[in-house]
Amino acid sequence: MKKTVATLRRQKEGGEKITMLTAYDYSTAKLMDEAGVDCLLVGDSLGMVMLGYEDTLSVTMEDMIHHTGAVRRGAAEALVVGDMPFMSYQTSVTDAVFNAGRLVKEGGAHAVKLEGGAVVTEQIRAITDASVPVFAHIGLTPQSINAFGGFTVRGKGLAAAKQLVDDARAVEQAGAVAVVLEAIPFQVAEIITRKLAIPTIGIGAGAGCDGQVLVYQDMLNMYGNIKPKFVKVFADVGAAMKDAFGAYIAETRAGSFPGEAHRFASGLDDAEVSELAGY
Ligand code: KIV
Repeated sequence: MKKTVATLRRQKEGGEKITMLTAYDYSTAKLMDEAGVDCLLVGDSLGMVMLGYEDTLSVTMEDMIHHTGAVRRGAAEALVVGDMPFMSYQTSVTDAVFNAGRLVKEGGAHAVKLEGGAVVTEQIRAITDASVPVFAHIGLTPQSINAFGGFTVRGKGLAAAKQLVDDARAVEQAGAVAVVLEAIPFQVAEIITRKLAIPTIGIGAGAGCDGQVLVYQDMLNMYGNIKPKFVKVFADVGAAMKDAFGAYIAETRAGSFPGEAHRFASGLDDAEVSELAGY
């Protein structure tokens, strides 16, 4: 059954955890969809894990549309959320609506995500009014890396925790359909989750959220540049890939690949083979 934002709201109400994974390409999205994930987030983390940038700031609308389209083609049932890249919505409400519309029209996203709390409520309201569901994202918001000074936990201490509660309330009031809580203390995430009617989706925010999201390269140990404390490696696919690449290189160098099973026969008889050899 196709997942919608209404499905997620029902999951929260019924106490059924929401599952979200990042995806950036067709084949991986299809595998995740077949495994039964509820949402696929085409995160701007693609700048780091797919494109090799140091942070997410260089990601463009064109990058996001390109990858969102690939993920959407692999998603038969999962809800596809396209991330709005840095400076695609901060500049003005008009830009925000225009670029959210591009992610839906050109990329096929079912919803968009943008970073920030009270400061982006005008954008959230306007995009929502244009009939595009918005996922908010508060706590550690990687597009603010230069303002924060690094990828560090947010919301520690009473004042910072209250600010997070205020931001969560503000994005809900502005019309967000869900909010991602990244790298915040688990007690703060639990309190926010209880206070909001919309689902909270945590990453580094403990088990008390309504759902969880992980960057798939992190959970499969495919990207070692940053190893956040909150990541659990569910399978060492990175090691399995390196082993497979190594085996291919070794067998090719040894001449044992390709074998008989991996080649095509000419169908020529002996006389024809001789004629061809002497040609
Ligand atoms: O870009 C991304 O992958 C994200 C998740 C970490 C929530 O925003």
